[in-house]
Amino acid sequence: MTDMKEQILSHVSPDYPWAGRLHFLPEVDSTNDYLKKLAAEGAPHGTVVLSDHQTGGHGRRGRSFLSPPGVGLYLSILLRPQCPPTQLMHLTCAAGVAVCDTIDQSVGFRPGIKWTNDIVYGKRKLGGILTELRLDGQGLVDYAIVGIGINCCQKPQDFPPEIREVAGSLSMVTGQAVDRFRVAAAELDALYAMSCGLLTEQEAMLTQYRKDCITIGQEISLVRGEEVRHGKALDVDNEGALVVRFPDGHTEAVNSGEVSVRGMYGYV
Ligand code: BTN
Repeated sequence: MTDMKEQILSHVSPDYPWAGRLHFLPEVDSTNDYLKKLAAEGAPHGTVVLSDHQTGGHGRRGRSFLSPPGVGLYLSILLRPQCPPTQLMHLTCAAGVAVCDTIDQSVGFRPGIKWTNDIVYGKRKLGGILTELRLDGQGLVDYAIVGIGINCCQKPQDFPPEIREVAGSLSMVTGQAVDRFRVAAAELDALYAMSCGLLTEQEAMLTQYRKDCITIGQEISLVRGEEVRHGKALDVDNEGALVVRFPDGHTEAVNSGEVSVRGMYGYV
């Protein structure tokens, strides 16, 4: 276990510049929350917290993200892009593409993205992304944290019954063992590449996101609190909002902070 960090670093590209900023923890409540503490202490751009086991892994709106030891990949990266938050509207989309690139390169298949931040294959969720921003006194981004969880080696029976039909892992897709260290290394490389183009390659990132996003073209349900509306997802705009056409013909760009999306006949 102690050499998990060395194992991962042995697979990253020789050009990976942030090996000295990688913190490996055998167990932590949440890599996002731990990284927030490091950020408050002045941790630099590119700091990564990676753990084998999260006891309080979570997604948006307090939803939990099951993070058992030995089977998953749980990591968070700190970015300090020094820009207004309006220039980071595409960050979760960019991270989604980076996760698809990671899995494509290290495992050999390309998953899809259920808008905004679920990594899916077929009808199953393989992982998720939690992006959090903190602004400074001038309203600029003090830091952004991108947290990524990927189910790598679970078997169907490893998931609790209530999510067994909708959760999956990389090895369930391939039918073979998956090397988490290689996936982690590919993730570090993909996130470094993402960070380099974050403010200059938005268009290319969103073009790829639209290809990876399985929600576009689907009839969907939009859930906002108690309210459920049906529509057709037409596109993702340049801010990462989902463009939806409603039965009366009008369209709206809906924000991921406001609504969650369900397929008409199930989770995806
Ligand atoms: C979601 O499914 O809605 C997002 C899940 C994000 C989980 C990752 S695991 C690493 C990081 N730490 C957390 O507590 N959450 C993210």
